[in-house]
Amino acid sequence: ATHTPSIPRNYPSITPPYPTLIQNLNHVRSVLKRPLTLAEKILYSHLHDPVHSLGNGRRIRGEAYLQLKPERVAMQDASAQMALLQFMSAGLDRCAVPTSIHCDHLIQASDGAEADLKRSIISNQEVFDFLESAARKFGIEFWRPGSGIIHQIVLENYAAPGMLMLGTDSHTPNAGGLGMLAIGVGGADAVDAMTGTPWELKAPQIVGVHLTGSLSGWTTTKDLILHLAGKLTVRGGTGRIIEYFGPGVHSQSCTGLATIANMGAEVGATTSTFPYTSNMRGYLHATGRGPVAQAADEAAGKGFLSADDGAEYDEVIEINLSDLEPTINGPFTPDLATPLSKFGAFVKEQGWKDEMSAGLIGSCTNSSYEDMTRVADLARQAKAAGLTTKVPFLCTPGSEQIRATMERDNVTSTLQDVGAVVLANACGPCIGQWKREDKKGEENAILTSFNRNFKSRNDGNRYTMNFLASPTVVTAMAFSGSLSFNPMTDSLTLDSGNRFKFSPPSGQDLPSTGFTPGDTSFYPLPTPEPQPDAEVIIQKDSQRLELLEPFTSPFNDGNLELPPLKVLMRVRGKCTTDHISAAGPWLKYKGHLTNISENLLITAVNDEGGDVNVAFDHDAPSGITETDTIPGVAKRLKGRNQPWALVVDENYGEGSAREHAALQPRFYGCNLIVARSFARIHETNLKKQGVLPLWFADKTDYSRIGSGDMIETVGLANLLQGHPDAIIKLRVTNRGGEIFEIPTNHTMSIDQIKWLHAGSALNHIRSQMK
Ligand code: F3S
Repeated sequence: ATHTPSIPRNYPSITPPYPTLIQNLNHVRSVLKRPLTLAEKILYSHLHDPVHSLGNGRRIRGEAYLQLKPERVAMQDASAQMALLQFMSAGLDRCAVPTSIHCDHLIQASDGAEADLKRSIISNQEVFDFLESAARKFGIEFWRPGSGIIHQIVLENYAAPGMLMLGTDSHTPNAGGLGMLAIGVGGADAVDAMTGTPWELKAPQIVGVHLTGSLSGWTTTKDLILHLAGKLTVRGGTGRIIEYFGPGVHSQSCTGLATIANMGAEVGATTSTFPYTSNMRGYLHATGRGPVAQAADEAAGKGFLSADDGAEYDEVIEINLSDLEPTINGPFTPDLATPLSKFGAFVKEQGWKDEMSAGLIGSCTNSSYEDMTRVADLARQAKAAGLTTKVPFLCTPGSEQIRATMERDNVTSTLQDVGAVVLANACGPCIGQWKREDKKGEENAILTSFNRNFKSRNDGNRYTMNFLASPTVVTAMAFSGSLSFNPMTDSLTLDSGNRFKFSPPSGQDLPSTGFTPGDTSFYPLPTPEPQPDAEVIIQKDSQRLELLEPFTSPFNDGNLELPPLKVLMRVRGKCTTDHISAAGPWLKYKGHLTNISENLLITAVNDEGGDVNVAFDHDAPSGITETDTIPGVAKRLKGRNQPWALVVDENYGEGSAREHAALQPRFYGCNLIVARSFARIHETNLKKQGVLPLWFADKTDYSRIGSGDMIETVGLANLLQGHPDAIIKLRVTNRGGEIFEIPTNHTMSIDQIKWLHAGSALNHIRSQMK
């Protein structure tokens, strides 16, 4: 199908600058002089300084830090709030790269598309108004509520072979289905790209997955990634890019590859990618991007869009697609993989009720035209036999274009005929926005074609066991209502007493008459011009949004050592970004720093006493040491204009790239965190917000500093004067009056020193603009 839908396009902004990228790569090749994987080609061609960055060709993967120049940014409505507030405080009047905002996470699922959309728009109006007005001011493409899910829209409109993109959502890698690198990041990283600041990434290792054979019958690309998740586990991809290659790649549809790339996030991979295929070309044409396909064809002709012969991977995994069978993963973790043929026995073994309570299909992971037509094929077979689904059966289209095309081609009516409820084009039940009325607090089992299945993820009920499977397996099982039903081998009894067995589903990867765009009022203008005079709307007294006040530099008085800092507490053990800034009900305050800071470290353990969310105020006006919550004591110190420090344990800040975990302590007056060790991303986030991270040179010094002690830096001035090899010591005056010095290490680069000096990276960028 080469039908062009009537969605406006701006081809320069959606076509990667292939000639420049290839030229950059040639510089790198002349240094490295070895065959490169596809992922390396995409990364190295996007280096900020391709001529000098890779030095003498020393070992890069897993070791070097790359300074990269992403081509595009995409943000969803929840994470875009703080990203935009930070971007605004940099004082620029436009984004350095094309950027888009997608309203999808804040849409609820309860009564069906239309009613849900209306209600969600009303309850989130102030957030949508803010996002839309900021988009207008800075020239960002704004995809209204109802337009679809970020990853599906990116695949349909922006993704292109060989591109490097950042997205503020963990399933951003979905766009890898079009042979690019799309990486999920926190808002502060997105702001790097939006302000044109080099974005830093530790060069990932590259895992090669060699695909041979072919999928058939019931088996889909979803089963491939479910199988791989079982093999690699939720941590197997950490710090690695998964690069697929081999003949098995070329027989898959582009959207099928996107499903695989999407769920690479479930094994912790940085992202996933595939060499350019003729199906990718077909998908680009079908989605109205013929000129992008043509440019990609030329770039592929120059060897840019696949690995070089002889390229080496850090590990190679062999998968013969012909050996795969449908797989069901879960509950509660995406790496607990059970082949469909063994699933009934597994359920029995566990002693679970042999009952499925709901089936959910669609989402960003599996709502392609191919998925939907295959599912409709099963629905048609069932309807002809007089069957309807036994359990609630919900379908979330990934985009307005998919929804409208499904409707036009009678896919929707076929699903509704057997009992399906079609929800709004949004995340809905995938992100806990499912207002489920049954099974509250009860153990029950649902099957979804989504990607994540942590406890409570879908309906907020921690007793809901959530299993992941392909859309066709979910659908077929919804007609049986039993977990042990295997549609490949089992049959169902009809009212007539006859038996009915499904034939393997078949579908079409692209609509033969092309896609139809549906309601185009949801769509943005292609690369809208910034309107500097436009006002960014934040309601007065808003509880959800608050402008960010730039942080003040502690060196404004000319003294290049930090002011004397009070130690707030010594944090014991594991302290992830979730401990530092909890999620759940706090998510609604993502755009309001004052409100969300009330959750600072509320699940952290105080090493002095071992209690959670307990801290001590040694300078209370009462004259005695008072006990309060951690945010409580932080607020007291802020109220007294007393800057403070934290002492923390190993791998502080592991988990996610959530920038709130760095913004919040800084907001309350934290200037220094001394750790046994830091998680790298969080350490960089601290530096961006103007907090100095130091490492104990001797880890046993951790227990020598306690709450209420005073810390002064010695040697920081040297660092700030531009000497990255300066040694910084801490002079500690403990509560007993004893004074001693502690040696530390730091990882500050020349650029990061400038951030610290300015009080934050954004302050530095703003001063550069001036
Ligand atoms: Fe949304 Fe779920 Fe995907 S939350 S972006 S549909 S993973």
